[in-house]
Amino acid sequence: MPARLRPARRRLGAVALTASITAALLGAPALTASAATEGSGSSALKALAARSGLKIGTAVNTDQLGANARYDAITRDQFSSVTPENVMKWDAIEPQRGELDFAAADELVAFAKKNKQLVRGHTLVWYNQLPQWLVDIGPSLTKQQATQILRQHIRDEMGHFKGKIWQWDVVNEAFEEDGTLRNNLWLQKIGPDYIAKAFRWAHEADPKALLFYNDYNIEYGGPKQEATYALVKQLKKDRVPIDGVGFQTHLDTQYDIPDLQSTMQRFAKLGLKTAETEVDVRTTLPVTAVEQSAQKAGYSETLQACLLVKACISYTVWGFGDAYSWIPGVFPGQGAADLYDEQLVAKPLYTSVQTVLRTAKGVPRR
Ligand code: G3I
Repeated sequence: MPARLRPARRRLGAVALTASITAALLGAPALTASAATEGSGSSALKALAARSGLKIGTAVNTDQLGANARYDAITRDQFSSVTPENVMKWDAIEPQRGELDFAAADELVAFAKKNKQLVRGHTLVWYNQLPQWLVDIGPSLTKQQATQILRQHIRDEMGHFKGKIWQWDVVNEAFEEDGTLRNNLWLQKIGPDYIAKAFRWAHEADPKALLFYNDYNIEYGGPKQEATYALVKQLKKDRVPIDGVGFQTHLDTQYDIPDLQSTMQRFAKLGLKTAETEVDVRTTLPVTAVEQSAQKAGYSETLQACLLVKACISYTVWGFGDAYSWIPGVFPGQGAADLYDEQLVAKPLYTSVQTVLRTAKGVPRR
């Protein structure tokens, strides 16, 4: 699992490299707490992003929503889009076959509506977080049965939320690092055209939703990005209803910062929208000042790239509070990847994002 989100090539970024040398020379100490001033009103992130028409979003942990007033306030006041971190995944909405449970996701959609936020739906077709009943019957399914189950799932879920979701991650993480299709249940049972089929069923279920392919490590050049490019180019050629590509953007300070401006521009030339959908910048703990400067660069440069590409319609962080991040569980010894610390105090990373938004003059409106 820990290798899962690493780019194929291991490289030290210019910022991280400079930082490491400086750290070695100076023996940089671990960073002590350094709070930043959180913006409000016209200096909140969502207000600053609105100047260029960009939606700034966050993944939401619905265990916290409604139970933690500070968590609610940040979600409401700083962000213009929300993504359910887990509760729209198949295992959450259909824990028993045929018994649909949308309660947690409905609460988030209601929260978003109340606060005039858009919703990114995440995610319909994935190899992970499948309900146990499906994992159990998966190996024995015929092609026809698998096709019927997947189509029904898309109809059920998108039908339930019809008209309420701005962007849907229809297919998530279909490729391996080497650019081959991931050998998941859908490839095994339906074949490679499960992807095109899923987009067609999705469009039938909610014709107004923007339909995205979403993946990680496609921010970097290499076989996975090339395979994704070839896939979406073919889908467009075949008039499959795909609207955009989501670049998850889970960064790590030990690697380069990807050139997302030229990459997203390349995909945009195919007539697609783009989005950064799951941004965070992890580092080895405890965080040093120099590593934090690499994290700031990670957030700043990826946000600048989005602002400079007119087709990039949203920039979403994968949660905002270090206490709720998925990272320590998957990458032991790493973390501090989010804009707010464990106590939900804004960090200097927040200020970096705020500064980029504040100083983004003359970027294309979207
Ligand atoms: O819901 C169960 C709960 O019933 C049980 O008691 C508990 C015990 O561990 O586990 C709960 O499930 C956890 C689930 O999150 C909900 O909290 C899983 O163990 C845990 O593995 C799962 O992690 C999520 C992960 O996707 C699963 O792959 C993370 O929160 C979530 O941030 C992460 O998000 C993914 C995106 O969807 C796709 N891109 C990569 C990204 C990071 O891995």
